[in-house]
Amino acid sequence: MTTTQKPKASKAKSSAKAAKNPKAKTFEINVQSADITGIDTPALVVNLFRGVKKPGGATGAVDKALGGAITQLIKDGEIKGGAGETTLIHTLGKIKPSRVLVLGLGPQDKFDAQVVRRVSAEAVRFLRRKGISRAVTIAHGAGIGGLDPQQSGQAIAEGAHLGLYKFGVYLTKNGESATEFEQLIVVELDKTKTKAIEAGVKLGSILARASIVARDMVNEPANHMTPSHMAEAAQKVAKDQGLKIQVLDNPEMKKMGMGAFMGVAQGTDEPAKLIVMRYEGDPANPGNNLGLIGKGITFDTGGISLKPPGGMEAMKGDMAGGASVIAAMQIIGQVKPKINVLAVIAATENMPGASAQRPGDVVRAMNGKTIEVINTDAEGRLVLADALCYAREQGITRLVDVATLTGAMVTTLGKACTGVMGNDSKLVQQTIDAGKKTGEKFWELPMFDEYKDLIKSDVADMKNSGGRQAGSISAALLLAEFVDGAAWVHLDIAGTSTSDKASGYLVKGATGVPVRTLAQLAIDLAENPGDQDVPKKSRSKSKAK
Ligand code: BES
Ligand code: MN
Ligand code: ZN
Repeated sequence: MTTTQKPKASKAKSSAKAAKNPKAKTFEINVQSADITGIDTPALVVNLFRGVKKPGGATGAVDKALGGAITQLIKDGEIKGGAGETTLIHTLGKIKPSRVLVLGLGPQDKFDAQVVRRVSAEAVRFLRRKGISRAVTIAHGAGIGGLDPQQSGQAIAEGAHLGLYKFGVYLTKNGESATEFEQLIVVELDKTKTKAIEAGVKLGSILARASIVARDMVNEPANHMTPSHMAEAAQKVAKDQGLKIQVLDNPEMKKMGMGAFMGVAQGTDEPAKLIVMRYEGDPANPGNNLGLIGKGITFDTGGISLKPPGGMEAMKGDMAGGASVIAAMQIIGQVKPKINVLAVIAATENMPGASAQRPGDVVRAMNGKTIEVINTDAEGRLVLADALCYAREQGITRLVDVATLTGAMVTTLGKACTGVMGNDSKLVQQTIDAGKKTGEKFWELPMFDEYKDLIKSDVADMKNSGGRQAGSISAALLLAEFVDGAAWVHLDIAGTSTSDKASGYLVKGATGVPVRTLAQLAIDLAENPGDQDVPKKSRSKSKAK
């Protein structure tokens, strides 16, 4: 079924959480031109670089109005300016704001937009803990920090939205007594800067709200976030943003020859879905395209190669790649870059049902290549194989897939950065560079031919598990067999899709990585139409060598 959805006129504001919990107020962030010491607010946020003894700028003006209170606290060693440090001062009527929060920015030579995202999140969470629901802030770094006002506004908005995020849908008390942080106002006296800050805040809010859409989907338990529910979430995004959407079901996929995907899907009674979304930002140039492919395993039991029970609940997040692709489409639909973007999400459960596939089974993917299923728990590469083939068949020449693909990735890089692999150094670099802008970190792993031996099979073109050695790389090498000459990047987010604790703009649970980077990459590629990649010559359907 293909439907073109009309864009809604109103701003997409609500998160899934707000929709389910109408009582929860949504957080908003605004910009005003005013003199900060004259604003009536429960809290005014100013800042300080590490090691500064005598604050200048806005912080200096506030210090002066408070009779040197900040300078005194610095002298006494209570304020050091470390990144994210928070010191609350009651103003006792000396200035209009009831309180001043001095927010540490860390060392000036390490300062950038990412610091602003992190400390802005720490600041609003700190205020919320204190029972404060509104505040005014200066635009961090827009002065001596070297950020332009727009960047500062964007980073503050991203940090505040993402840092305040709570899932909490199933808490029946839902923090009724706890304060919700409702409003942050960025204040700048210089009217020439407020326009730019406003533009930044608007963009930052779009990016953060979409990341929250992804977080909600990942945090949602698997009995609710089924493949059908994922398709509905994608339908909503498509409707809100006026994107085309198509959802293919099992019979259609079987007919198309998606044997690898269907092999995984046969172990569950939940219908599988191939979710296909289209944004047409450059319809006159079909070659100017990007394919975003997402792993959407709504629960990964391992299948017949069953996972051990300890920690298995985390596998409700095995659709984080797919969620991030759907959420990135929400941004792309709003920012409207001049590029065509196709999103393909392969959604199914990986269950050990009576008709589940067995170790030793051989499946045939859409491009005709055969795969021996050594381990039914290596299911992500199987569903992605067909999703990649599908995108290639749709004429996509630049592919980025996103997947919680391997436990080995968590062992290799931990949670600090996402592993990148690919067959095109330019697209790899463009992805890493997009991440530098968003603050999401990426690190490339090698795809040397030597590793190809790991997935050699005696009975099929390849096998789906390469054993214990170089687990993330052997998984990527299997995917490479299905991109048919297109420029391709693979992002393994097994570590980065969730966080163990609140830190900076991350909170415990889903992170929304790499939603903002996927959108940034689409924007960057649209701005460099000169480097559209021409597909290389189709490779032969030979065995993995
Ligand atoms: N979804 C898992 C990978 C994963 C592990 C994601 C931990 C997030 C956290 C994937 O489907 C899987 O089970 N991979 C296996 C592959 C192996 C059987 C070759 C793994 O990593 O153990
Ligand atoms: Mn698995
Ligand atoms: Zn999995």
